[in-house]
Amino acid sequence: MFVAFTVAALHANLSLWTPYLSDQPRKRKFLNGANFASAGATVLPFNDPDLLHLDIQLAFFKNVANLWRQELGNAEANKRLNNAVFLISIGGVDYFLFPSDKPNATESEKHEYVNWVIGNITNTITEIYEMGGRKFAFQNVAPVGCAPAVKQTYHIREDECMEELLELPKLHNNALINAVEELEIKLPEFKYLIFDYYNLVYDRVKHPFKYGIEVSNTACCGSGAYRGVDCGIGGYELCSDPNEYLYFDGNHLIERAYSQISELLWSGGKNVTKPLNMKQLIALEPHHEEIVKFSDHAMKSSE
Ligand SMILES: *[C@@H]1O[C@H](CO)[C@@H](O)[C@H](O)[C@H]1NC(C)=O
Ligand SMILES: *[C@@H]1O[C@H](CO)[C@@H](O)[C@H](O)[C@H]1NC(C)=O
Ligand SMILES: *[C@@H]1O[C@H](CO)[C@@H](O)[C@H](O)[C@H]1NC(C)=O
Repeated sequence: MFVAFTVAALHANLSLWTPYLSDQPRKRKFLNGANFASAGATVLPFNDPDLLHLDIQLAFFKNVANLWRQELGNAEANKRLNNAVFLISIGGVDYFLFPSDKPNATESEKHEYVNWVIGNITNTITEIYEMGGRKFAFQNVAPVGCAPAVKQTYHIREDECMEELLELPKLHNNALINAVEELEIKLPEFKYLIFDYYNLVYDRVKHPFKYGIEVSNTACCGSGAYRGVDCGIGGYELCSDPNEYLYFDGNHLIERAYSQISELLWSGGKNVTKPLNMKQLIALEPHHEEIVKFSDHAMKSSE
């Protein structure tokens, strides 16, 4: 959801983040942050060299944190890491790949898979915390089963979504809430928000007219029954007005929908982003170690 990053950056008066793998990585110091996002990225490692799964992204982040320490010194690097907001939006592709990897999965296999995805995210967050990260924004997983690409692949009726790919994201999103609440208990300075992307997209799929959208069950660009695949490739079709659509291609929303949704990440109420919105998370004062030590000391000496 690149547009969300962009909207948050513009509101927060930040420059747009440099992609970590941009052309001259050796010369870049990423002092204002970096974008580790990768198209099609998964949490779990799949055998695809083009997908930068979460562990690879974490390794890139460690390189940036080390660059900061070299460039700025430990104290300033720690301060920046404490202040930084880590925006995590991952998991959808893990579920998208699941039904073809494991047709006819049992309920317990689905739960086990969700636990792996969540367990690996939790480990990554814990590592980032140990390196100084304090503020985390989680975007939950989309209703993947409503994407035109999925509906076309599994021959789903026009007005329906693929059930298994609604069930897995819902299991994930509930487990994510529990996992994050446990992190909050375990990690004393952990601060977070969870952005309910699932319901924002699902409501647009089911009630497009509420949002001024005409078509939510077919993409604007692509081939096949729902124009679900190959946008820009071969003899694909293109709609005349993307703003009448929810999905631009088989897997991605149109820009207008992303920008409306990301405004809600920035300043939405608790019914869309809990317990804080991005504006509030950014404004939170991090709890510095120096201050803790100082106030402990002050309390003792005044006893
Ligand atoms: C899944 O179940 C369907 C029928 O329910 C069956 O035709 C198919 O062979 C099964 N696939 C696998 C991989 O077991
Ligand atoms: C991470 O995922 C792997 C599968 O790729 C799984 O075996 C492992 O148990 C997961 N880790 C946690 C902590 O859940
Ligand atoms: C959230 O609440 C606001 C007002 O409190 C309301 O206008 C908005 O429609 C709600 N959004 C959702 C997605 O429920």
